[in-house]
Amino acid sequence: MSTYLDNLYWRYATKTFDPSKKVSQAQLDDLLEALRLSASSYGLQPYRCIVITDPVLRSKISEHAWNQPQITSASHLIAICARRTLDEAYVEAYVSEIARQRGVSIESLKGFRDMMIGFVQGRTSEQLAEWMKRQAYIALGFLLSAAAQMRIDACPMEGFDAEHVDRDLGLLERNLTTVALCPVGFRVANDPLAAQKKVRLSKEQFFLHVSPTAFEETQNR
Ligand SMILES: Cc1cc2nc3c(=O)[nH]c(=O)nc-3n(C[C@H](O)[C@H](O)[C@H](O)COP(=O)(O)O)c2cc1C
Repeated sequence: MSTYLDNLYWRYATKTFDPSKKVSQAQLDDLLEALRLSASSYGLQPYRCIVITDPVLRSKISEHAWNQPQITSASHLIAICARRTLDEAYVEAYVSEIARQRGVSIESLKGFRDMMIGFVQGRTSEQLAEWMKRQAYIALGFLLSAAAQMRIDACPMEGFDAEHVDRDLGLLERNLTTVALCPVGFRVANDPLAAQKKVRLSKEQFFLHVSPTAFEETQNR
């Protein structure tokens, strides 16, 4: 049984998929469930996901992604899309959903509701759009991690022209924009990329230590 870390070492941004190897429906269901279970700020989930299997649509998307081969050769293509706008009505609908799913009254959620409404009202539409994209990236992280645990290959991608991809997917009408694409499937046998050493910053470079005295010194400056 491989460990979580073994699986993270195993994964890599796969560019050459074996088109004959397909992710089963059961595997896909689990991957999508991991995506759905992503953490998001307040739990608002201001993003949606689309599974794209249609080959014609995928080659269209590929044209707007510098013809990166993984778009068309992977078993499935998953698009993670953020909302373009967020308003009070969305928050109210979410509050109703919490009340329904947890069997509590809407009134009991008033404090939480007011906090979220304050958050939305206190930001410009540009700030909210940026914030929603950040939420979508967390979902992408959940997907990548889940795929690795299931030994399913994936390639996180933002190398595409979102304006065109949004048009291909009819997202403007749904108030969505594509944040990331993630082809999933299975690598070709003996992919040289799979054998390459994973390059990461050293622990010394990556983890910083801040001493309480350093903090006090900044405060006293
Ligand atoms: C947000 C994001 C966007 C990326 N976009 C692309 C992309 O468009 N095409 C691609 O081949 N790889 C893309 N990558 C993969 C990275 O290049 C890769 O994750 C990085 O080099 C680290 O390697 P590893 O994931 O194989 O460990 C992207 C990764 C992330 C997280």
